[in-house]
Amino acid sequence: MKFSILTLFPEIIETYASASIMGRARQKGVIEVQAVNIRDFSTDAHRKVDDSPFGGGSGMVLTCQPLESAYESLLPLKQPARVFMTTPTGRRFDHHFALELTQAQEIVIFCGHYEGFDERIKQLIPEMEEVSIGDYVLTGGELPALSMMDAITRLIPGAVQKFTSVQADSFYDGLLDYPHYTRPAEYKGLKVPDVLLSGNHAAIEQWRKAQALERTQRLRPDLLK
Ligand code: ADE
Repeated sequence: MKFSILTLFPEIIETYASASIMGRARQKGVIEVQAVNIRDFSTDAHRKVDDSPFGGGSGMVLTCQPLESAYESLLPLKQPARVFMTTPTGRRFDHHFALELTQAQEIVIFCGHYEGFDERIKQLIPEMEEVSIGDYVLTGGELPALSMMDAITRLIPGAVQKFTSVQADSFYDGLLDYPHYTRPAEYKGLKVPDVLLSGNHAAIEQWRKAQALERTQRLRPDLLK
């Protein structure tokens, strides 16, 4: 899987994608990450990438030319490909969306900034989809791009050491994750549930399922609908 992230801050992408599980997945060749600086493609003498909005109003809008030229530099994309722009008005990114995207060979993400993109970019790049990571507004698209990349990567077999732990995590089976405990078995009088120390794997499995269901009912009843 290849991720091509178009951004004004490639160093943010590069730093995150070099550490921890993402960094290891890259080293193992499970994912490829390319951070492309949109500014490098500006034909403006001052490498300008934005301008004030027609009709007035605050903030700046990313202009079409550098976005389109940066995209053209990536072509041809590995197929099947998906192309996204980050915006709070987009389709909500969630676990099911992440699973769907594991089927792509290349994912391109345009990181928004300021007031966003010139609307015409959607006509210039008709395969463009709009994606949001939640009902709040961020100052830029780098966190949405990294959130998507991280969530998709861990669903690709080989990225995380034990895929069974991915499958046991929240949302994979439609439920929230069960509670976890580690040593010591008692800390400041707080005990680990007896069943987890019993060595009875069937009983442990049953307890975990019941906990996951109880938690989901209590905290996220919408997931059970
Ligand atoms: N850009 C600003 N806020 C955003 C959000 N919630 N999701 C995606 N892109 C964004």
